[in-house]
Amino acid sequence: MCGIVGYIGSRQALPVLLEGLSRLEYRGYDSAGVALGQADGVWLQRTVGRVADLKREVRQAPAASLGIAHTRWATHGGVTVANAHPHTDATGRIAVVHNGIIENMTALRAMLTAEGVVFRSETDTEVLPHLIRRHLQGDPVDAVRRALEHIRGTYGLVALFADHPDVLVVARNGSPLVVGMGDGEAVIASDPQAVVEHTRRVVYLQDRELAVVSTSGVDVRRFDGTMLDLNVELIDADYDVANREGFTHFMAKEIAEQPRSVRRCLRGRVDADEGNARLGGLQLSNRDLAAVQRVITIGCGTSYHAGMAGALAIEALARVPARAEIASEFRHRHPIILRDALFLAISQSGETADTLAALGEIQLKGGEVMGVVNVVGSTIARACGRGVYLHSGPEVAVASTKAFTSQVTALLLFTLMLARTRDLSLTRGQEVARALASVPEKVAHYLDHPGPIDAAVAAVKDARYVLFLGRGFSFPVALEGALKLKELAYIPCEAYPAGEMKHGPIAMLEAGTPVIFVAPTDDQRDKAISNMMEVKARGATLIVIHTAGDDEMAALADVAIAVPPVLDLVSPLVSVLPLQLIAFHTGLALGRDIDKPRNLAKSVTVE
Ligand code: F6R
Repeated sequence: MCGIVGYIGSRQALPVLLEGLSRLEYRGYDSAGVALGQADGVWLQRTVGRVADLKREVRQAPAASLGIAHTRWATHGGVTVANAHPHTDATGRIAVVHNGIIENMTALRAMLTAEGVVFRSETDTEVLPHLIRRHLQGDPVDAVRRALEHIRGTYGLVALFADHPDVLVVARNGSPLVVGMGDGEAVIASDPQAVVEHTRRVVYLQDRELAVVSTSGVDVRRFDGTMLDLNVELIDADYDVANREGFTHFMAKEIAEQPRSVRRCLRGRVDADEGNARLGGLQLSNRDLAAVQRVITIGCGTSYHAGMAGALAIEALARVPARAEIASEFRHRHPIILRDALFLAISQSGETADTLAALGEIQLKGGEVMGVVNVVGSTIARACGRGVYLHSGPEVAVASTKAFTSQVTALLLFTLMLARTRDLSLTRGQEVARALASVPEKVAHYLDHPGPIDAAVAAVKDARYVLFLGRGFSFPVALEGALKLKELAYIPCEAYPAGEMKHGPIAMLEAGTPVIFVAPTDDQRDKAISNMMEVKARGATLIVIHTAGDDEMAALADVAIAVPPVLDLVSPLVSVLPLQLIAFHTGLALGRDIDKPRNLAKSVTVE
């Protein structure tokens, strides 16, 4: 979603800002802009479209060693140059970039309009430079602080003052910001990706903190003025977004990387002899685990689907009641937070606003939330304090792939731990531990032998509708397959538990309708075969993801894609792979923007 970059130092700011924006492109955006500090005011350039378009338009930019830049993902107001950030005050001497949402913008716009301010955009952000101007009496930091007293909502913002070229003023409430501290310079960003190539020494701002950034360093204070000790951290060396490493797209690279990313998630965490797992970051003793009476996962999109697969495994193996919740719904339905429940907040980015808000509500009511997060040091990881890191490495493609398999892997490790503190025997524990340890090899085997993906793509690419079906552990996989195909190909899809098809969605089937059935061999196999017969009887085209060696099932399919045999609760980790490939190749065949599908953002930082 929206990206912020700021620079102050002795180098030319523009190349640093533009390179930073390029590194944030993966988050998704629809317009971009830059503001440079000049003695005669702010120099501003904004454009609709890509950072590459902005780069073309700033060729005549003046020299400057102070600047801010932004990629915008439209919320308030359409995708126009006027709505793109940075926004300036009426004098053109203050510029602001902002992520987040100002909830009381209507009242603030009315107040400022009554005072004579003429708004030039439809955005919530534009109130900020006007409010800051209203309070500016010499000290820029005080002006920002007093302006923020009016604001209700979330923000990560950077303010630039043409009359104070020695500072950038930065503030955070609910939207991440990091200040990278270099030698005589600082790079500010909403994501460490834009900082890491300049310095690994960073300060993460916390909510309701304000930082004054200059060439000589940074000082951080609370909104009430209390000065805070600097907490300088080192960004992980492997945080840097790798290049595509010869792949045409990040998504293709990330799909191919899964044997390695799952192996990293498992490393040091499987105890094959004891038939157990170790997740030290949870800081839960066996006694603590044994006391857990229910588990609730919270997440959005792909992370919600991973949570669903995890919840099913927890109930099946550990016999602990478990369910998955959609984070964006959770806190708004006044949830009951039971003290004996353990909540798991699942997030690749660790910045998803809906998940963050849900976990805040749980914590407020005294509930225990642990993170299952990929990005180290992200807001959700910090807010939880305890949890499991996925160690997938940076996921750049907007459509999540390797994060899903790592999330499910981490949840299965947790399931095994939980189950072993109950009545799961050593022998059965060893069987599950072995099954988990063998996943990287099974994933690699499938990716080397992906089967007739082309035939599946030919069946779905011109379809008006695609139905995904699965039973038990395969239903979350069906949901994930449908989400991927929607995102990548923009084809209407839906996913149903296969037994539910006859209660409605079967009406959608006619000759040639593609039905993708996720049906690895498990205890629901015979029921799945009956559902396949119902599909075939309507003349629909049946694409089956089945376990290698299940020839009877393969024979029923118009397109049969075999995945390696695995334990049933581990099956999502292999049966999702063909669905990722079908979505990728269908998107490619239709000429879609694979790594940045329309309207989507990698990190959804607004509710
Ligand atoms: C789908 C996708 C999204 C994310 C969702 C949650 O391909 O990427 O559905 O899964 O926005 O994001 P995180 O996991 O970062 O909280």
